[in-house]
Amino acid sequence: MDDSVGVAFIGAGTVAEMHGRGVAVVPNARLIGAYDVDPVKARAITAKFGGQVFDSLQQVLASPDVDAVHVLTPVAHHVPDAITSLEAGKHVLLEKPVAQTHAEIAGLKAAAAQAGRVCMPAHNYIYAPSIRRAKRLLETGKLGKVASLWILYNIFHAEDVAATYGGVLRAVCTHHAYSLLYLLGRPRRITATTSRIQQGNLTCEEQAMIVCEMDNGAIANLWTSFAADDPTNDPWTVIYKILGTNGGISYSWNEAQFKDNGGPAWGMSCYEETFTEEIDYFINRCVLAAEPPLSSLSDAADALSILMAAERFLSIAKARETIAYEVEQ
Ligand SMILES: NC(=O)c1ccc[n+]([C@@H]2O[C@H](COP(=O)([O-])OP(=O)(O)OC[C@H]3O[C@@H](n4cnc5c(N)ncnc54)[C@H](O)[C@@H]3O)[C@@H](O)[C@H]2O)c1
Repeated sequence: MDDSVGVAFIGAGTVAEMHGRGVAVVPNARLIGAYDVDPVKARAITAKFGGQVFDSLQQVLASPDVDAVHVLTPVAHHVPDAITSLEAGKHVLLEKPVAQTHAEIAGLKAAAAQAGRVCMPAHNYIYAPSIRRAKRLLETGKLGKVASLWILYNIFHAEDVAATYGGVLRAVCTHHAYSLLYLLGRPRRITATTSRIQQGNLTCEEQAMIVCEMDNGAIANLWTSFAADDPTNDPWTVIYKILGTNGGISYSWNEAQFKDNGGPAWGMSCYEETFTEEIDYFINRCVLAAEPPLSSLSDAADALSILMAAERFLSIAKARETIAYEVEQ
């Protein structure tokens, strides 16, 4: 008897490539097909990774071969697509940010509970083996008292691409926020700053820094930039660093690379691995073994709270102090 989990993709754009690579190698996962409002995209993904092209979401959900869907649409569609899929009895892996409001996340939780199905946020960065080792080292106290955490992301995105993400805070710092929650728990207070470097028509921020105060005095520094790559000999492309009184961890996406310029970070083995590990966890631990995900919808709600606190901070102009120099230029 084939007890593999049949998977379909809802949305077959950029990130579907990484989900395709993941499903292709994860045991017990089988790609049944893909649906995209643009059938050309669905055809391209199924031509590469197998499965059929579906004509509608309803056709996907009516298929008895589909046990789980990966919702890979733009954020505005995440919640309706996920809830419809849960109501049809499908398990859901839902791309980040899972939703735009806390009420929407509450709706997702209720729909998953009602259906008795998994709704797992695609918080892929923490599924990397190095991050899970960091968590174990923290939990066993081997690092001592944590003093600081650094998550640095420096991947250039041209202005037209950056514009489609609508700002790095919601689009990328979500990764930083759920990672911080997984590793150190909830920060108590934050400050934040954002900027733009490219000077065309871009209206959203392309750099952001959120500084979080933890209860024990540790400071967590969450940095994101679409403005520049790091081409130096010790690149900060994506770095996680935790320094404690008794030790530390350092993890870098530059560890292994291959040539693939198809999309940002597509040739970074560590990036690809985050998807493979996440999909393995979704299929084999959550769907088949009924274990909870490493980062839940409640964590997604907490991550949103961190980003909303940063947005509130940024909206209070007087919180940014202008420096008074002795001699004005
Ligand atoms: N976890 C990660 O590392 C990561 C990386 C990139 C993107 N993402 C997330 O993945 C999601 C998709 O991002 P992307 O970069 O692939 O975007 P994209 O624009 O390249 O792809 C989205 C696709 O969805 C299709 N689509 C739009 N509305 C649809 C609908 N109602 N039904 C079916 N298909 C629809 C579009 O035609 C498009 O092909 C976003 O939420 C983004 O934040 C996550």
